[in-house]
Amino acid sequence: PFPIFRRLRAETPVRYDENRQTWDVFRYDDIQRILKDHTTFSSKRIADAKKETVLTMDQPKHTQMRNLVNKAFTPKAISDLTPRIDSIVTELLDMVKDKREMDLVRDFAYPLPVIVIAELLGVPPKDRRLFKDWSDTMVKGAEADTDEALIQMHKDKEKAEAELFHYFRAILAERRADPKDDLISALLAAEIDGERLNEEEVLRFCILLLVAGNESTTNLITNTIRVMTEQPDIQERVRQDRELVKSTIEETLRYYPPFVVVGRRAVEDVEIGGQKIAAGQQVVSWVVSGNRDESKFEQPDLFLPDRKPNAHLSFGFGIHFCLGAPLARLEGQIALDRILSSLHEIASPKTALTPIPSPIVFGVESFPVTFQT
Ligand code: HEM
Repeated sequence: PFPIFRRLRAETPVRYDENRQTWDVFRYDDIQRILKDHTTFSSKRIADAKKETVLTMDQPKHTQMRNLVNKAFTPKAISDLTPRIDSIVTELLDMVKDKREMDLVRDFAYPLPVIVIAELLGVPPKDRRLFKDWSDTMVKGAEADTDEALIQMHKDKEKAEAELFHYFRAILAERRADPKDDLISALLAAEIDGERLNEEEVLRFCILLLVAGNESTTNLITNTIRVMTEQPDIQERVRQDRELVKSTIEETLRYYPPFVVVGRRAVEDVEIGGQKIAAGQQVVSWVVSGNRDESKFEQPDLFLPDRKPNAHLSFGFGIHFCLGAPLARLEGQIALDRILSSLHEIASPKTALTPIPSPIVFGVESFPVTFQT
């Protein structure tokens, strides 16, 4: 898909799509301006105020809510998780090592972030598997294009949401009676202007963390190993020089971003790239295109494991910059480092890949790999 974006950046950097009734924005600078200007470009997109999360709130509420969990996601707090993530990674790899093949998604990249976030939240390990269906259903987004599919999608989402709510309500009750050192307990104790969050708000926050973080981190890990198999010379180079692990993860984020777009709505008339956007209109920023903008990145279509600087937009920009970025980065780095240590000559049989059927994510449903140990 990438060459198309080069043309779009050059010819129609900001264009209106009548079918989707949406503005599409393709250049790095324009995207950055939109995400920076959070007063003109609102994140609000949910009609029912009760259903809002940090992701869909504007200031000042956004920042108040976000501050409640910031502490749990600082680089320091996250780096303290290193030994635990390390041991989960080792455990997952030990289970497949002798087989010399696995489905990287099913056996590794999917379970890792689910286990980590479940532990952070304070969800019992035995319940982890329940999350897969729920969280998969809830991230299924704009892919429904017929009315029937749309109605079915909404039904499925409502059902999954109801089940997740039901599940979390029980845990909340337990933590209220007996607080522990986990995020759920912290959210229950948190106050904004002297007031506790209500149950609904705590539940929405938990579910956001679960849903926002999992599939994207799965895709980051899979996309990284995908690059390593598509370009074996890069695999060899990073294998020899582990100092490159960090920048390789950043480069994967730029090159194959787990989310390809970020959405906003203009609250007043505004001009971007010479186009007049009217109040109320939807604006979609194509991060995947900004990440390959030749005016920002040299040789944008090359994967450079040591690219510096690398100001990709894959975690967004500005006040909504991904809360989980330090965690996703750390999981990606530990995963890549350990995979390179444990598995040699990683290759992917040249079968056709099935993309995840969503226009907003870049990833594959499964990724079979072979390797030596
Ligand atoms: C926000 C990407 C992992 C939690 C965002 C945004 C992006 C993003 C692009 C900004 C959305 C916007 O501006 O509208 C990613 C990617 C990830 C990842 C690519 C993995 C590679 C995670 C993880 C968590 C998480 C692991 C939590 C554990 C959040 C939250 C927000 C957010 C809570 C909303 C922040 C706010 O609105 O202030 N993420 N994310 N993300 N992300 Fe992530």
